[in-house]
Amino acid sequence: MDLIIRRAALPRSAAQPHGPVDIGIEHGRIVAVEPKLSAAAREEIDAHGSLVTPPFVDAHFHMDATLSYGLPRVNASGTLLEGIALWGELKPHLTQQALVERALQYCDWAVARGLLAIRTHVDVCDARLLAVEALLEVKRRVAPYMDLQLVAFPQDGLLRSQGAFENLKRAIGMGVDVVGGIPHFERTMADGAESVRLLCEFAAQKGLRVDMHCDESDDPMSRHVETLAAQAHRLGMQGRVAGSHLTSMHSMDNYYVSKLLPLMREAGVAAIANPLINITLQGRSDTYPKRRGMTRVPEMLAAGIDVAFGHDCVMDPWYSLGSGDMLEVAHMGLHVAQMTGIDAMHACFDAVTVNAARILGFERYGIAPGCDANLVVLDARDAVEAMRLRAARLVVVSRGKVVSRSPAARAALSLEGRPTEVDFKLHRA
Ligand code: FE2
Repeated sequence: MDLIIRRAALPRSAAQPHGPVDIGIEHGRIVAVEPKLSAAAREEIDAHGSLVTPPFVDAHFHMDATLSYGLPRVNASGTLLEGIALWGELKPHLTQQALVERALQYCDWAVARGLLAIRTHVDVCDARLLAVEALLEVKRRVAPYMDLQLVAFPQDGLLRSQGAFENLKRAIGMGVDVVGGIPHFERTMADGAESVRLLCEFAAQKGLRVDMHCDESDDPMSRHVETLAAQAHRLGMQGRVAGSHLTSMHSMDNYYVSKLLPLMREAGVAAIANPLINITLQGRSDTYPKRRGMTRVPEMLAAGIDVAFGHDCVMDPWYSLGSGDMLEVAHMGLHVAQMTGIDAMHACFDAVTVNAARILGFERYGIAPGCDANLVVLDARDAVEAMRLRAARLVVVSRGKVVSRSPAARAALSLEGRPTEVDFKLHRA
């Protein structure tokens, strides 16, 4: 074999034998997962019982804006509206080369964080389609070690921005994978519904997936997710449609939501929440109590709806922080959704791994024979510890090859009568 990872603890979502397992890898695929694998490999890594997970998957990102922090100025108020204005100021100055360089730098960070698949929305409201060309180039460049999925995103509105639908169709023709939208940003509710119909019909005709920014608003009457579910159902697109953000659901009437959740479930529409961004941008016109704006994650999971968490932004006009760490995203999601029960905490880890992979449509994702040999050795014993510590990614394997290593986080202590080192893990005598 090419590589064997020995003594790996697997996440709950992986069907596993009791106790640690060895993972055998050959020709970029996992070929064996069993205790005490009796085979030899050119390289062996001892995980010492640490958690070995399939890679992190970011189901919602904006790679065309990432790492543009401070260009041409910082977002002084930190609000969504100033972020939109700032993006408008930056857009005319974007060059393909700068876009590619920033995106590649972000992909380096992502790999080091064990984040090996990203669905990124790309603004198509620019007749030059500069960002589309740049990100298609980035997709080609990182393909040997990373999966990028691009969404054609009419950021200024499909109907509101002149020529947006034509641009979107051109972007799809150039190789963009998924159809995006932003119904709540259209001029009227009716236009929003019409944009959903047009985009879903186009996607169905082309056999493509749909992922819309949907109801990213505090307005409880922003109900485009209902139209999205109805169109997904009508067009037979179950399992191929996602609503991103869905923050208006935070503010909706409970009785209405009791009808909406089964409708989403029936239509096979997935939800992608973006906890870091939703809680910082929503509720800004509230005094107190202040709404947090994250969609109804535990209720959706209980209703059988697929839910992933996305990072959305890193160092861009809307968000000054972030480093490509999906454990930080899961950690924030867990807190905001109050998902502190033991099963709920594991569900938050799934939201940045298996659930996201399913929504993106990956068929060979996981730790089982036949899956792609993409995995991460974490300096944690289980998923909860991984989120608590935002654990170091000791080893990142992509396509069967080690692509990144990080040291474990350790602090040296100089205290009389106390240990000389701490690793922040619970040790009991
Ligand atoms: Fe977004």
